[in-house]
Amino acid sequence: MKAICWQGKKDLRCEEVPDPIIEDPKDAIIRVTSTCICGSDLHLMNGFVPGMCLGDVLGHEPMGEVVEVGPEAAARGLKVGDRVIIPFQMTCGECEQCLKQNFSACQTTNRNAALAKKMFGDTTAGLFGYSALTGSYAGGQAEYLRVPYAATTAVKIPQVGEDERYIFLTDILPTGWQAAVQADIQPEDTVAVWGCGPVGLFAIHSAKVLGAKRVIAIDDVPERLALAASVGAEILDRSKVNVLKALKDMTDGHGPEKAIDAVGIEAHGPNAVLELVERVQTAFKLQTERPVALREAIMAVKACGTVSIPGVYGGMANAFPVGALMQKGITIRTGQTHVRRWTDDLIRRIDEGEIDSTFVLTHVEPLERGPEMYRKFRDKEDGCIKVILKP
Ligand SMILES: NC(=O)c1ccc[n+]([C@@H]2O[C@H](COP(=O)([O-])OP(=O)(O)OC[C@H]3O[C@@H](n4cnc5c(N)ncnc54)[C@H](O)[C@@H]3O)[C@@H](O)[C@H]2O)c1
Ligand SMILES: [Zn+2]
Ligand SMILES: [Zn+2]
Repeated sequence: MKAICWQGKKDLRCEEVPDPIIEDPKDAIIRVTSTCICGSDLHLMNGFVPGMCLGDVLGHEPMGEVVEVGPEAAARGLKVGDRVIIPFQMTCGECEQCLKQNFSACQTTNRNAALAKKMFGDTTAGLFGYSALTGSYAGGQAEYLRVPYAATTAVKIPQVGEDERYIFLTDILPTGWQAAVQADIQPEDTVAVWGCGPVGLFAIHSAKVLGAKRVIAIDDVPERLALAASVGAEILDRSKVNVLKALKDMTDGHGPEKAIDAVGIEAHGPNAVLELVERVQTAFKLQTERPVALREAIMAVKACGTVSIPGVYGGMANAFPVGALMQKGITIRTGQTHVRRWTDDLIRRIDEGEIDSTFVLTHVEPLERGPEMYRKFRDKEDGCIKVILKP
């Protein structure tokens, strides 16, 4: 089958690889009908995540049709012909964390748990197409995907309706939603959101649905800011203003009550000189992150506010404003999204028309064009905001 493979930093290729097979009674195989490129994939492409191996199949936002089911998955109700979305993480449904719906912390599914424990102090769930740290599982930017723990991982969706309506439930919609829920939004709150990529845009949409009085969106890409405005945000172009000063000016001088960092590890700015300093530091491994947006969010937020961090971080950051965090009594909420915790509720909200699940989509392309579309998405060419690939 064809799949998008990682062949080194900034080197992705659409290659011929062996078809997946059932390896465990809990497995299922799906024929992928649609699969997306995520901002998290850019961190792999750009070499920010350790533990990638040459030939690794990428992709963690697939959906499709079940074509083969292992006996245990079948016994739990998964059938050939089911239409499913595959959340980016695998969930066993039985461990302590799964029972608490902390699915991204599933204690069973990461077969390289020892590695994750060494790096982070505890394991995370197994993830599709996301390095040795999360289990070395093949990803879903491919014609077929092996889904371990299939009965508790796959989410069945209705047989009718375009893929586009449901596919973003695999990751970015629940991620934006969880980011807004974790910001604990109150009716009087102003919520500032750094980053208007797909995750930031869904966080903005969610913050509005959850009743935030004002949402302020921060980025420097005009079409992304325009889309943020279309779902009700006031916008701040960070290339034209000092973000920190502008946010204080737009609020009561104290800052927004809630802040969401939907940028993560590869943030730009705040100006050319400091960006160069951070790039040199990450190049020489003096730090592994460029936490520009997170620093700004912590400084901007009002005392006793909440900073919610859906943006991905992987290692160690310098110049982290721990003093502001402590002195202002900031609450930090973060984590990989517990996708299945939110899917039933979000499917209902999509079907009732409360949530527009497709507004971030700009490009639908054949799988073979994957490597080129990664570059377009990264470089924001051609108005690219979210790409679906069709195997
Ligand atoms: N927590 C999770 O489970 C989860 C799931 C999916 C994605 N993510 C992460 O969310 C983040 C966003 O993902 P995405 O798909 O929207 O990516 P993206 O790369 O499309 O979006 C990032 C946006 O941030 C903007 N940006 C860069 N520097 C900035 C700064 N200093 N201030 C404000 N904006 C800035 C960029 O212009 C871009 O529009 C990534 O780190 C991704 O890995 C996390
Ligand atoms: Zn993703
Ligand atoms: Zn589990």
